[in-house]
Amino acid sequence: MSAYLKCIEKNCNKTMSSTSKAYVCPNCEGLLDVTYDFEIFDPEKIKQIFLKRRSSNSLLDLSGVWRYRELLPFCTDFSKVVSIQEGNTPVYEAPRCAKYVGLKKLNLKHQGLNPTGSFKDNGMTTGVTQANLLGSKIVACASTGNTSASMAAYAARAGIRAVIFIPDQQIGFGKLAQSLDYGATTIQLEGDFDESMRLVKEITLERDVYLLNSINPFRLEGQKAIIIELLCQQDWKVPDRIVVPGGNLGNSGSFGKAIKELYDLGFIEKMPMVTIIQAQRANPLYQTLIDRSPRLVKVEAQTLATAIKIGNPVSWKKAVRAMEWTRGWCDFVSEQEIADAKAIIGRDGIGCEPASATTVAGIRKLVQTKEIDPDEDVVAVLTGNLLKDPDYTVNYHQNSLYQEATYRNELLGKKDKIRSTFANGPIKVRADKEAILKVLGL
Ligand code: F0G
Repeated sequence: MSAYLKCIEKNCNKTMSSTSKAYVCPNCEGLLDVTYDFEIFDPEKIKQIFLKRRSSNSLLDLSGVWRYRELLPFCTDFSKVVSIQEGNTPVYEAPRCAKYVGLKKLNLKHQGLNPTGSFKDNGMTTGVTQANLLGSKIVACASTGNTSASMAAYAARAGIRAVIFIPDQQIGFGKLAQSLDYGATTIQLEGDFDESMRLVKEITLERDVYLLNSINPFRLEGQKAIIIELLCQQDWKVPDRIVVPGGNLGNSGSFGKAIKELYDLGFIEKMPMVTIIQAQRANPLYQTLIDRSPRLVKVEAQTLATAIKIGNPVSWKKAVRAMEWTRGWCDFVSEQEIADAKAIIGRDGIGCEPASATTVAGIRKLVQTKEIDPDEDVVAVLTGNLLKDPDYTVNYHQNSLYQEATYRNELLGKKDKIRSTFANGPIKVRADKEAILKVLGL
């Protein structure tokens, strides 16, 4: 079985060794895929192997990524694998969410239950393993907070130095706390994520520092396991649609690659549609599709869902490819819709960070516009844990969540209030039994 890097641009298709440190094609600057000459002839047998590994205690099998190693076979020296038993995330039925969005049933795959609380762990185990295989001493990334938290943890496990670039404002406090605790060198830049991304790309090209943003195709290999694991959990019954938030657009790109490979190899007989949901004022992919533009329509991103506050997403072409392969589409939702959907996900006893709630909000919008049929079998992927951004949640429930004004009134520092439709604020009571019972109505 051989693995190599291949440019995704149809008129280029340049290939390179899988040990190359290139992040983009040296000929045309296109994005790269890790590509394989798979030698899988009996998918049913491999499915049985995956199932059997769930009762094994070996480190590789305990990982919800490496358990599926036949489908990401770039690593041949398993002693170099860096794993914190990532993946293994549950699929929950969410009846209150289903009712809210207007579906008969809705499943949520909760990637926020990963070791560092986001889906990035799926990709970081393969990304840091590749860094280890290449003998890298320093890894780096730009991040809105989750990539950095995850990279910091995996680098710490591997004994590799981690350098992270984060915007100096608007990063969930839980995420910042993680990077500091995991010992990463944390650079807070005056500027937004897009600026951090530009700088880290330049630095990693000039110095011997391995870049672990999702432009690195080895990261996206691990994120394929989100789809593989989901299908295993559903006994390979393929849902009609998988809904995912869109930020830098690596995850949706990786979902597309997973689905295409599983289809081509005969694991599945139909492809679930990949539906990508962005925040209304951070929706460059949507703008690009609507404009039918061959180039990305960049935007100046603005959203309280800071994880996806990205106006110039690096992997947009892979996201477009995923939608083409699976007949998927992209849409956007408002800050109000995100906030309310998040509260409903909470009411199902599940919870998530704001970016994840774009999925449930997006499904509701698409059911209302009749794009999604109420009978459809839909899975939404929740990408991050509720505790990543506690400020947002507490502000919502205390009726004090504000977004940047939707009109340009920066001189006045104007803010728009988000309605706390499903507020469940704390109740202040005197330390007195009778007073408490009165408040409880008991
Ligand atoms: N949801 C969460 C919780 C995220 O942290 C991100 C991305 C996304 C969704 C979007 O995924 O970028 O693959 O389209 N966070 C990155 C970070 C950008 O730096 O942590 P994407």
